[in-house]
Amino acid sequence: MYTIIRFDELDSTNTYAKTNFDSLENFSVITAVRQTAGRGRYKRVWVSQEGGLYFSVVLKMQQYEYTANLTQLMALSVCKTLQRLGVNATIKWPNDVLAHGRKVCGILSEALAADGTIKGLVVGAGINVAQPDLLQVDKPAVSLNALGLAVEVEVLLKAVLDVFFEHYPSVLKNGFEAIGKDYRENFPYIGKEVSVLDGQKVTAGVVQSISPEGRLMLQTADGLKEISIGDMTP
Ligand code: BTN
Repeated sequence: MYTIIRFDELDSTNTYAKTNFDSLENFSVITAVRQTAGRGRYKRVWVSQEGGLYFSVVLKMQQYEYTANLTQLMALSVCKTLQRLGVNATIKWPNDVLAHGRKVCGILSEALAADGTIKGLVVGAGINVAQPDLLQVDKPAVSLNALGLAVEVEVLLKAVLDVFFEHYPSVLKNGFEAIGKDYRENFPYIGKEVSVLDGQKVTAGVVQSISPEGRLMLQTADGLKEISIGDMTP
């Protein structure tokens, strides 16, 4: 079972989890009311005013295999939780959750290693719940409040964690295929034209499928490409 450790303010729940990794127990969950230096993917800032949900899960796993799939599991857990609360949520590969085409959740996973061996993974998620304004946030974004949903951050956190930890053992053992059917059902981009940005590299094409490993299969002008990382823009 997980243990939630709460703070009013942290620089970043991911940074706290990484800095204190050795003294934290497996399945600790660090959460803060606000973050002063919230971090997003590709070194972006994750603006973290009071009203949002910010948390990081400490996973003391000893395998590199399936770390990307565990991040996808967190996206699916948020997506399914929001759907149960009546929100029309979907997943944008690899691990954003959107509602009505606008970002409601982002996830940043960071592996920890020592002497070339993995010690574990920190999976951090930020959910736009009830921040007063999202003007400075990764756009286009929307909060659950703006969608007409009033939910306590604590209730939302536990609901997401329950889904995540229900499927964690099977994803750790079998990777993407443990959640593939569910993930694909909530990924509405098959047949759509998208571009994927990874650093300076842009790959454009039509989404063909999500591979058995959870990668994006894109039909491009140069043939079928298998993409394992990036930011997808529809
Ligand atoms: C992204 O979409 O770029 C990922 C955003 C991840 C934000 C969360 S908030 C909790 C955790 N702590 C951080 O500093 N970042 C993640």
